[in-house]
Formats: sequence, structure tokens, C-alpha cells
Amino acid sequence: MTKSRPGTPANPLRVAIIGSGPSGFYAADFLQKQTDLTIQIDMYERLPTPYGLVRGGVAPDHQKIKSVTNVYEKIAVDENFRFYGNVEVGRDVMRADLLRHYHAIIYAIGTRTDRRMGIPGEDLPGSHAATEFVGWYNAHPDFRDCEFDLSQERVAVIGNGNVAMDVARILASTYEELATTDIADYALEALAKSRVREIYVLGRRGPAQAAFTNPEIRELGELREAEVIVRPEDVELDPLSAEALATSSDRTAERNVQVLMRYSTQGDLGKPRKIYMRFFVSPVEILGDERVEAIRVVKNKLVRAEDGSLRAVPTDEYETIPVGLVFRSIGYMGVALPDVPFDERRGIIPNIDGRVFDPQRMDTLVGEYVVGWIKRGPSGIIGTNKPDAQATVMRLLDDVRSGRLIDPEAPDRESVEQLLRERQPDLVTFDDWQLLDMAERERGQPLGRPRVKYSQVHEMLAVLTERKGHLNPSGD
Ligand SMILES: Cc1cc2nc3c(=O)[nH]c(=O)nc-3n(C[C@H](O)[C@H](O)[C@H](O)COP(=O)(O)OP(=O)(O)OC[C@H]3O[C@@H](n4cnc5c(N)ncnc54)[C@H](O)[C@@H]3O)c2cc1C
Ligand SMILES: NC(=O)c1ccc[n+]([C@@H]2O[C@H](COP(=O)([O-])OP(=O)(O)OC[C@H]3O[C@@H](n4cnc5c(N)ncnc54)[C@H](OP(=O)(O)O)[C@@H]3O)[C@@H](O)[C@H]2O)c1
Repeated sequence: MTKSRPGTPANPLRVAIIGSGPSGFYAADFLQKQTDLTIQIDMYERLPTPYGLVRGGVAPDHQKIKSVTNVYEKIAVDENFRFYGNVEVGRDVMRADLLRHYHAIIYAIGTRTDRRMGIPGEDLPGSHAATEFVGWYNAHPDFRDCEFDLSQERVAVIGNGNVAMDVARILASTYEELATTDIADYALEALAKSRVREIYVLGRRGPAQAAFTNPEIRELGELREAEVIVRPEDVELDPLSAEALATSSDRTAERNVQVLMRYSTQGDLGKPRKIYMRFFVSPVEILGDERVEAIRVVKNKLVRAEDGSLRAVPTDEYETIPVGLVFRSIGYMGVALPDVPFDERRGIIPNIDGRVFDPQRMDTLVGEYVVGWIKRGPSGIIGTNKPDAQATVMRLLDDVRSGRLIDPEAPDRESVEQLLRERQPDLVTFDDWQLLDMAERERGQPLGRPRVKYSQVHEMLAVLTERKGHLNPSGD
């Protein structure tokens, strides 16, 4: 008997989505919109909690942005959607397992580590990746035990992206500013005792090339006890930058420069914490015997590269800035999944329009796809992942029509569920997550906070056991 094409009620199209960040949810959303197909989606997440960087990256003082999870929640409660939290692909289940159970696999695993500067002293105590600090203040279980010496008064943040803005802002915020957010409680306590007074944000190019966006640079100037300091000579536009601004249709850079110019003329506001925005400097060495004591930077100038972009090239002028902590915020980096092709240089899963590409066979893999940061690299806001996921799902649907899918041995929900329960008895369903979500919100409520997060997996599992015991006291 020939099998019918998957996508019917009798033979649903079975899709595994690996990762529950924005890109995974937008992929699920576009699949759910295909009303002519019956599609069953299983979403795998290595943590017991969903939503990727919306929970573990977006800054705690940006609560409005986090409300995007209401959209994801609606996707997750569909009867053809299952969430398998606390299940790591590559640890609890392997690619070969997925190939046995699904017609299609979408990798949406994000980019969980950081890029390195590759300079001497980078591994000295006191030198950290922004990734660690961000994960720590957001109660991500991987980073909750990180330690940052906040008794230091002077800190350098390397990079001019929005993550650098987040890190500088959190370091410069007061207890009161953070106490109404969902920042990890241990981070709130540690930051309340922080002695950080001077934060140097170091950009390798000029103000007109900064990657941060207008609201984020403005927000730095709105902090209660911190002021932004910009040297007038740093915002004086060089001819290449002036020309680039004049010919660009995107006004972001021009407005960034205007905001920075305002900072450069505002005078001393007398606030106790200072954020120094410095431009045209690249770190060349982190100095210190036992720990970070200073950062040595080289002054850069801009040149036009062959592709028309403006690049920073070093001059022979150096400067040493005494700092006790360094956070490099120069971009995230993907990590390979076992048995899945990986581009080590770019830190992404190689792909052609979202179809996973195997460089050894010089062909795309049947039924395997990629979305989000692990598809295109670690850039773009939450919304960027929507068209990105849609484009990949369109390719998947082309492949449904042409029959270019995985031919799984056991494409039924029950056999997957059985396998997962064997491999990970502590798997967390979406109903479980909603219990955990409620527990976190209840902890926050008396404190006037949106939630107080759990930061350890065993803690989350214990809360679930307790709450489920209440729901079902007989244990049946
Ligand atoms: C610090 C920071 C702050 C940001 N703030 C904002 C903001 O304010 N506004 C905005 O619009 N954008 C913001 N962004 C950008 C936004 O977060 C990203 O565009 C978006 O999260 C990328 O989505 P993703 O699904 O590709 O990856 P992620 O959000 O990283 O999701 C990947 C998910 O996959 C899971 N996973 C990884 N490996 C496995 C595995 N092997 N098995 C199972 N699951 C796995 C991870 O645990 C994670 O949940 C921020 C980014 C960062 C880094
Ligand atoms: N509020 C928000 O909306 C928000 C918050 C956080 C993050 N995000 C988004 O998430 C994405 C990632 O943000 P991100 O800040 O990690 O990355 P990013 O926007 O790519 O910025 C990286 C910064 O690091 C610099 N850099 C790279 N390599 C360097 C090196 N070797 N030495 C010195 N500087 C170096 C870059 O400078 P060059 O430009 O010279 O390369 C750039 O300024 C972005 O799209 C961002 O907008 C959004």
C-alpha cells in the first residue's frame, strides 16, 4: 500500500521544532496558518522554560517587549502543538531519533555562546562575556552561578550594539529602578551593593557607525543616578561619516549622532555614576597580574573598504584605561548540534534559503530546516525572526508539495512521547510551564514585580512537583 502524502487527518505532517525562542514560535505560527494541511508540531526546549532570549536576553527593565510571549502562548495552546521542555536535542534525544519520528525538523536553537576578541588578557579574572552577565541578571540556569566583582568602581563594556547598551544601563541603574522588574533576585541584591561608578562603553568605529538604536541610546540618558558623557571631539563627524549620513536613507545613525551631540554639550549633571561613550578605540590587551586592572586600547581611524563599508584601522596612538571589570559585548555565537552540519567560522547551521546544507555532500538535507539566529547569525530584533521563519516555512511547504520530506519509521505522537518519557522523566509540558509561570508571578505580586524567576532547574522541577501534587493530591 502506498502511503498518502503527509498533511491529512489520517497522516498528519509531523514537524519537530528545536528551540522555543521567537524564531521557533514564528515557524510554528506559519505552520498553524496552513489550514489545508493537518500539521502536528512538537517543540523541544532544553530548559524547562520557553521563549529563549525573550526570557533570558531581553533586559528586565524592558517588560513591555516581553509581552510578545502572549502571542506565543496562543500558538502553544493549540491542540496540535506540544511543548517538550527540559529536553535537549543532542543530549536527551539525538538527530537520529528525530529522523525516526518526524517528516520535517526545524532547528531554531539560537546562538548561545559569545564571540571572543582574541587579545592577551581576555581570560583574566574580571574579564567576562556580556552573554554571561545578561544570562546571570535574567536568571538563566546556565549563568546563575557566575560571579562578577561589583566592588570594582570602573568597568569597560566593549562594543556599540544594543546588548552593550543593556549591560551599561543595568550596571548604571539604581536599586529602585531595578526592583520593579523581573531581574533575578540574587542579581538585584548584588547590584544594590555595586560600587561601579564609571562605565566606559568602547566603540571601535565612530558614533555614525554605532549599531545601537535611538531609544536605547536615549534611555541611557534617562537614568536616575547616571549621566552620559561624550567628548565633543568624538562626535565631530569625519568626512567619510558625514558623507555616509548625508547619502543614507536610514535616519537611525543620524539620530544617534544627534543624541550623542546633545550629551556632549549638556555639561556636568552631578549624578554619581558616569557612562563614558568613547569611539574609535579597539582593545588590544587586558592588563593585570592576578585580575583585570586596565584595558589598553589603540586609537582607530576610518577607511573606506573595497565593498564600500567604513572600517576601523589602527593608528599608532595607544591609551590605557584603568578598569577592574571588562564585559565584551561584540556579538553572540552559535554552537554545533551533534550530527548536524555546522559552519564553525560563522557559528551558524549552513543553509540555502533555510534548507540545511551539508557541505560534505554539497547538497541540502531532505526535511531539515533552520530559522532565526542559528540560520542567519546573531542579529536582528524579535520581529526580524518573523519574515525569516516565514521564508523557511515556505520552503518546507514547497517540499511537502513535491514530497521531499523525511520518511519516518514511527510518525506517531505516542511513540515519541514514550521515547521522551524514557529519556527524560522530568520533561516539562506547556501545562507544566503555565504552573511555573503562575508560581513566579505569585512570588512577584506582593513585591510589585511582574514575577520572581526561578533560576535553577531542580528548583523549577520541585515547584512543579508540589503544584501538581495540589492539583492531583491522590497522585493518580
Ligand atoms: C541580550 C539581548 C537582548 C535583546 N533584547 C531585545 C529587545 O529588547 N527587543 C528585541 O526586539 N530583540 C531583542 N533581542 C534580540 C532577540 O532576542 C532575538 O532576535 C531572538 O531572540 C532570536 O530568536 P531565536 O529563536 O533565533 O533564538 P533564541 O531566542 O536564542 O531561542 C533559542 C532557543 O533554543 C533553545 N535551545 C538551544 N539549543 C537547544 C537544544 N539543543 N535543544 C533544545 N533547545 C535548544 C534555547 O534554550 C532557546 O530557548 C535581544 C537579544 C539579546 C542577546
Ligand atoms: N532593545 C533592543 O531592541 C535590543 C537589545 C539587545 C539586542 N538587540 C538586538 O540583538 C542583536 C545583537 O545585538 P549585539 O549588541 O550583540 O550585536 P550587534 O548589534 O551586532 O553589535 C555588536 C557590536 O560589537 C562591535 N564589535 C564586533 N567585533 C568587535 C571587536 N572585535 N572589537 C570591538 N568591537 C567589536 C560591533 O562593531 P562594528 O559595527 O564595528 O562591527 C558592534 O558595535 C542586534 O540586532 C540588536 O539590535 C536588540
